[in-house]
Amino acid sequence: MKSDTDERGLFIPVILGTSRMGRASENVARFVVRHLAAMPGIETHLIDVLELAPRIDGAGEEIKIPAFSELCMRADAFVLVAPEYNHGYPGLLKHVLDTNLKEYIHKAVGICGVSAGNFGGTRVIENLLPVLRELGLVTIFWDGNFSAAQKLFDAAGQLLDPAYVRRIDKFAKELVWMAKVLRYGRERVSLEV
Ligand SMILES: Cc1cc2nc3c(=O)[nH]c(=O)nc-3n(C[C@H](O)[C@H](O)[C@H](O)COP(=O)(O)O)c2cc1C
Repeated sequence: MKSDTDERGLFIPVILGTSRMGRASENVARFVVRHLAAMPGIETHLIDVLELAPRIDGAGEEIKIPAFSELCMRADAFVLVAPEYNHGYPGLLKHVLDTNLKEYIHKAVGICGVSAGNFGGTRVIENLLPVLRELGLVTIFWDGNFSAAQKLFDAAGQLLDPAYVRRIDKFAKELVWMAKVLRYGRERVSLEV
């Protein structure tokens, strides 16, 4: 069923949420970028919090990073790749997310949790949800859950378990659907009753 008459493409950047040397999350983020880039009508881009190098002598919009804000403004949706650190999210990811607000409002977001343990980052995902809601983002129903992340990719960063392709495809399709619905709403549906 082709139900979408809006032929414009979508821009869905992937935010890699840790600057840790040796981070397994980078393999996850690059895998998600490759998957999105292969979908028709989707443009993507890897946003690495390490490269953003945010100032740490302030917080929130007072330390905006212009290039990051421009990408967020242009985005129709986001993927966050968030490693689980002591059941929470890396402080740097939160610090970077906090630098924008209007850029996120009523846009879709999907989360890929990454963990060494068996729970696929479910605890970092649960902890991110109220933060994303406060930023004005709309979370999707599916998550990416990457357990035992150090063992999921080979030395060249290629995925070793093909089951993740089907899972991330389901995740990406729901994100695309939500991005289209929300773009329609932002552009065509009034907040006035
Ligand atoms: C400070 C810190 C805390 C961590 N806490 C957890 C944890 O609570 N649960 C877990 O499964 N893995 C934990 N890990 C392991 C990471 O989830 C693991 O390294 C995974 O690969 C994702 O992080 P990475 O991208 O930095 O590699 C922790 C790692 C660090 C550095």
